[in-house]
Amino acid sequence: MLTQSPYPARVEINEVAPRDGLQIESRFVPTEDKIRWIDALSSTGLSRIEATSFTSPRAIPNLADAADVVTGIQRREGVDITVLVPNLKGAERALACQVDELNLVMSASDSHGLANLRMTPAQSLERFREIVDVARERDVFINASLSTTFGCPFDGVVVRERVLMLIEQLVDMGIEGVTLCDTTGMANPMQVKTLCEAVITRWPSTAFTLHVHNTRGMGLSNALAAWQAGITRFDAALGGLGGCPFAPGATGNVCTEDLVHMFEAMGVDTGVDLDALLEVAATLPELVGHDVPGQVVKAGKWDRRYPMPAR
Ligand code: COA
Ligand code: ZN
Repeated sequence: MLTQSPYPARVEINEVAPRDGLQIESRFVPTEDKIRWIDALSSTGLSRIEATSFTSPRAIPNLADAADVVTGIQRREGVDITVLVPNLKGAERALACQVDELNLVMSASDSHGLANLRMTPAQSLERFREIVDVARERDVFINASLSTTFGCPFDGVVVRERVLMLIEQLVDMGIEGVTLCDTTGMANPMQVKTLCEAVITRWPSTAFTLHVHNTRGMGLSNALAAWQAGITRFDAALGGLGGCPFAPGATGNVCTEDLVHMFEAMGVDTGVDLDALLEVAATLPELVGHDVPGQVVKAGKWDRRYPMPAR
C-alpha cells in the first residue's frame, strides 16, 4: 500500500507580478494594459492577486494608478484582490476601492526599513496599529509582509529572535496572515524549513505565506522546503518578474508558472489551470518590453515530447 504523503496536498498561489513585478520595471505599463492583464490572470484559477500598491506615487511611480487599476478590474468569485499598503493613507485609499485584503508591508531589518519605507520596524508597527484600528470594522483580511525576514542586503543576517518578536507583535495586534519575505534571495532551503516549522508550530491559527525571490537561483528550492515544512500559501510572480527598487541587487520573484508546474508535476493541487497561465505568461515580454526569466514557458511542460530526428 502506498503511504500517504506527509506534505500538504493543496497549495494557494498569490500572483504578485502586478505589484512586485511592475514596481521595478523601467517603464510605466499603461493602466488599461494592467487591467486587461489582471483580468486574464484572474481567470486562471489563482487564489489571490496582488493587484498594485497604495504607496507614495513619488516612491513607486509605476503604480501611481493604483485606484484606477483596482476599480477597473473584473472581480471574480474565489479570487481575492490584495494590495500592498505601507501606512494609514495607503490603507484608506485601498479600503475606498473595496479590496479583499490589505497587505501591510514592513521590514524585519532597520536599514531596509529606512531605505524602503523611511521607517524602522518599530515605527512600522505603530503605523500598523493605526491601520488595524480602522480596518477592523471592515470586511477585509489583514496580512502583513515582513521584508528581509531571511537576510538584509544592508545589515546582513537578521537574527531569528528578532523575526519571531516582530511576528508576535503582528499577531498580537490582530493581524491574520504573515508573509515571510526573502526580499533579495538570501535564504537557503534549510533556513526556510526551520523558520517555517517554528512559526507554524508557534502560531497555528495564523496564515503564513512564503514570498521568495530567485536572485541566487534558490527560489523553487526554498518554496519546496517551505511546503515540506507545512506552508500552503505562496507568493509568486508571472514570468519571474519582480524586485524591490530600494533593495540593491534585488531581482525577480520565484516564477508563478514554474512554481505551479513544479507543484502540479508532484501531484500537488494548485487550483491553477497551468495551460491558461502559460498563455498569459507568453504575453508578458510584449507587456513589459523585454524577455523574462520564466523557464517552463520556453521549455514547455515536463511531459513535452519531440519527434525523433530524421536520419
Ligand atoms: N499613498 C499616497 N501618497 C502617500 C502615501 C500613500 N500611501 N503615503 C504618503 N504619501 C504622500 C504624502 O501625502 C506626502 O505627500 P505631499 O508631499 O504631497 O504632502 C508625501 O507622500 C510624503 O509623506 P510622508 O508621510 O512624509 O511619507 P515619506 O516621504 O516618509 O514616505 C512612504 C513614506 C512609506 C509613503 C514611502 O516611502 C513609500 O510609499 N514607500 C513605498 C516603498 C515600496 O512600495 N517599496 C516596494 C515594496 S517592498
Ligand atoms: Zn518581493
